[in-house]
Amino acid sequence: MQSSPKPEGWSSRLGVILAVAGSAVGLGNFLRFPGLAAQYGSGAFMIAYFISLVLIGIPICWAEWTMGRYAGQYGFRSSPGIFSVLIKHPMGKYLGALGVIIPVCIYMYYVYIEAWCAGYAWYFLIGKINFTTPDQVSDFFQKFVGSTQDGLVVQRGSNQVVLFLVIVFALNFVIIYRGLSKGIEFFCKWAMPALIFLAIIILLRVLTLGTPDPAKPDQNVLSGLGFMWNPGQVGKELLNPQLWLAAAGQIFFSLSVGFGVIITYASYLTRKDDIVLSGLTASSANEFCEVALGGLITVPAAFMFLGAAGVAGQGTFGLGFNVLPLVFAKMPFPGFFGTVFFTLLFLAAITSSLSMLQPGIAFLEEALGVGRKVSVTLLGALTALGCLFVVNFSKDLKALDTIDFWVGTFLIFVLATILIITFGWIMGVDKGFEEAHQGAHIRIPNAFRFIIKWVSPAFLLIIFALWVLFNVFGWNIDTGQFQPTGYVADLIGQPGKEPNQVARLSLALIGIVVVFTVVLISAASTRWKKKLTGIKAN
Ligand code: PFF
Repeated sequence: MQSSPKPEGWSSRLGVILAVAGSAVGLGNFLRFPGLAAQYGSGAFMIAYFISLVLIGIPICWAEWTMGRYAGQYGFRSSPGIFSVLIKHPMGKYLGALGVIIPVCIYMYYVYIEAWCAGYAWYFLIGKINFTTPDQVSDFFQKFVGSTQDGLVVQRGSNQVVLFLVIVFALNFVIIYRGLSKGIEFFCKWAMPALIFLAIIILLRVLTLGTPDPAKPDQNVLSGLGFMWNPGQVGKELLNPQLWLAAAGQIFFSLSVGFGVIITYASYLTRKDDIVLSGLTASSANEFCEVALGGLITVPAAFMFLGAAGVAGQGTFGLGFNVLPLVFAKMPFPGFFGTVFFTLLFLAAITSSLSMLQPGIAFLEEALGVGRKVSVTLLGALTALGCLFVVNFSKDLKALDTIDFWVGTFLIFVLATILIITFGWIMGVDKGFEEAHQGAHIRIPNAFRFIIKWVSPAFLLIIFALWVLFNVFGWNIDTGQFQPTGYVADLIGQPGKEPNQVARLSLALIGIVVVFTVVLISAASTRWKKKLTGIKAN
């Protein structure tokens, strides 16, 4: 039986804005951003962050909205399909492959972290997390996520995380199966306000903490906020290229630009729909949640209770899962605030993970000519296998970390560069602006013509080249020497150190997704060509 693929679409303007904002607002806002800002000395970091927002974040966001809606008019919804419309050359569509590969691979580990959030919310609710020493917290975390040894999936006994994962994974697919407007849009319409409400509860609590421990008068609200926000030696810090890389990377990750998500979401719009203001609104909502909510909660709270030493050196997730449970334990009603915070994280994560699935669904439907049932089943099977891989190789979170590095950081720079060059040079700024302004409620300032054509690609290419020099080849700016970083050493080994097999297998997994996507694109190429001939004839 062939399920009839009836045309999908968003049911309201607010709905699509909330869906894009839902994709953008995620773990990046509440964990990654505060961690990075505190690590790089917030004053200087915020300058690099806002410059990156204006020079690459917003331009690529507008480019994605415009190109997605443009190709959507011709019935193409997947990133490779969209690129087949934008780039006339037969190889063009293969450039769009990254817009499927990236979200699908990221989903495989993001949903695992989403399951941690659900688990923590539940354990706070039933009073199982109530620890007072750092050792207790990190012990619980390591056991829960299985970071001490591999084989979590096949072990019997202490593998509750798998249970949470199964539930969260299934929930994502149930929502996706309901379709764009009844599933994603419906869910985001209540989840987004709900998460902002929960964040405000936590924020009010944090800002009214005063001096939680009178014996430590230095650790009060103002010094907590100061620790996060006081500018340090801005001039000197701005010369650190790593700070720029971190700031630009955070802009991409946070706004969900350069992932192939927005381009797919926008393809379901029509030419009558505004995209310029909608894109800006969704991005502004993300910035509000990131700077005004995320930036005021996590780090100041941790500082007030644990001091600078308690905050320092915590990675992206360390702050959330290893530090905050200690902070909540010291507040009155720890169970309540812990549950609220991790529910907020869970909602933020699920609205993001849903957006990682739609590009894959659109691609399978378009490449194989199948309906939603088949596409959801296929994508479910593929991502379930990938996810089991990530969970099973959980020792030191190696699989997660490797995929996050090569896909979640490296490939998004590549796709972002492809997107901005396609918009500014292949579609052309004039045509791009004309297309963007169809149905637009505001105009893009003219300065952005120059920015999009010259500044954004140059800025991106420089940042990307530096990123590769530092983070792949391990360039030491002081000594001028190169020493491959851990991620590369994991793959090729180092004198006296064998390559890491899990890291190699993770790369093989990414390779399988790449081959699968490329094969499907080439299989679809005759059908797409016919569809395209129809377009060009018009
Ligand atoms: N923007 C999300 C966050 O800040 O957590 C992360 C994300 C969403 C990454 C969607 C990738 C993606 F396709």
